[in-house]
Amino acid sequence: MDLSFTPEQTLLRDTARDFAQKQVAPHAAAIDKQHRFPREIIAQLGELGLMGVAIPEEWGGAGMDAVSYALALEEISRACASTGVIMSVNNSLCCDPLLKFGSDDQKKQWLLPLAAGKKLGCFALSEPEAGSDAAAQKTVAKKTADGSGYVINGTKNFITNGPVADLIVLMAMTDPQAGHKGISAFLIDAKAEGVSFGPVDDKLGIRGAPSAQLFLSDAPVAASARLGNEGDGFKIAMTALDGGRIGIAAQALGIARAAFEAATRYATERKTFGQPIANHQAIQFKLADMCTEIDAARLLIWRAAAKKDAKARFTTEAAMAKLFASEVANRVAKEALQVFGGYGYLTDFPAERHYRDAKITEIYEGTSEIQRLVIASSVLKD
Ligand code: CAA
Repeated sequence: MDLSFTPEQTLLRDTARDFAQKQVAPHAAAIDKQHRFPREIIAQLGELGLMGVAIPEEWGGAGMDAVSYALALEEISRACASTGVIMSVNNSLCCDPLLKFGSDDQKKQWLLPLAAGKKLGCFALSEPEAGSDAAAQKTVAKKTADGSGYVINGTKNFITNGPVADLIVLMAMTDPQAGHKGISAFLIDAKAEGVSFGPVDDKLGIRGAPSAQLFLSDAPVAASARLGNEGDGFKIAMTALDGGRIGIAAQALGIARAAFEAATRYATERKTFGQPIANHQAIQFKLADMCTEIDAARLLIWRAAAKKDAKARFTTEAAMAKLFASEVANRVAKEALQVFGGYGYLTDFPAERHYRDAKITEIYEGTSEIQRLVIASSVLKD
């Protein structure tokens, strides 16, 4: 078993780390406080190839793999969790399905600028009444009488990147009687007629990653904007989410690491009872548990990413990585705040931001409960 990286993977990780520490981390607190979309950082991520890490160079990406993607996303999220999820949605939920299911024309129009970071994508699956039960879609794409396209009506919820996106990868019912087999995927210009977003959501964490409700009101869409065949939408969404869960796991890992590192630094500086608190066993045990769990999460993520790179089915491994890493992020962020004591509760210190940012990783791209269902169903099938 070989856990070493190729020189290219190491270089990409180091590039992401260097950029994240110098250009992202210094702005993370302000991005959070001001609820500010980090437009200039996203443009620079594009220049570094980080908005389409696993997309071939001919389609505008860095031509790397899923392991590299996880390494880079951990580094970016360690610096700023908001920037991490913006990058993750574009890579996993937009570029990846476009590469797998898009026609050459669709790739030219959307994948090239998305992977190069010149445009930004969002993914519209969740609805007011279709969250965990993703197949319960109410958004309808009705075929026009002449068959040249569709008219779409519906509402989508919690659309990360939505208010600043150029492209929407949207799921809608083309055959509402057919359940999940009646769902199709579409590539929709975010500025198109009949497409609008509500006010930006006011959130607990990841406040620099704008999300909002999306409304489709008699939105006309050409047949050429359908991604894959009619009825393929649910599988396209699930396949994209498999990869997305590796991304969110890596985001959670980055948050956990940031919280752990801040707590470790603080523990060597802060003194109680005449010595640094790092000398107390109560603190040492916390730090030992944190870094052990962080390493375990990282190994699960690398395994899922390596399986994806090997073109094997990785649904279960991605669900395990996402489940464990997101719960580790929450445990570590909570303990890190405790190490900071009263200061951890103040917004002057980073611990409370990590604590707030960690929570969403247990919710989006499939809650922990959904990950457990996915894992259990694979266990019971064996
Ligand atoms: N890959 C490929 N195919 C898959 C699949 C996968 N991972 N998972 C399921 N399928 C297929 C099944 O094989 C089945 O195919 P057949 O009909 O041919 O047999 C079909 O899809 C239906 O499968 P299920 O019966 O298992 O589907 P279900 O309705 O019971 O739902 C679920 C399964 C796992 C609960 C799914 O609904 C789910 O993942 N829910 C969570 C949704 C989610 O993650 N939402 C996140 C929103 S996006 C987001 O959060 C982005 C953001 O803002 C950052």
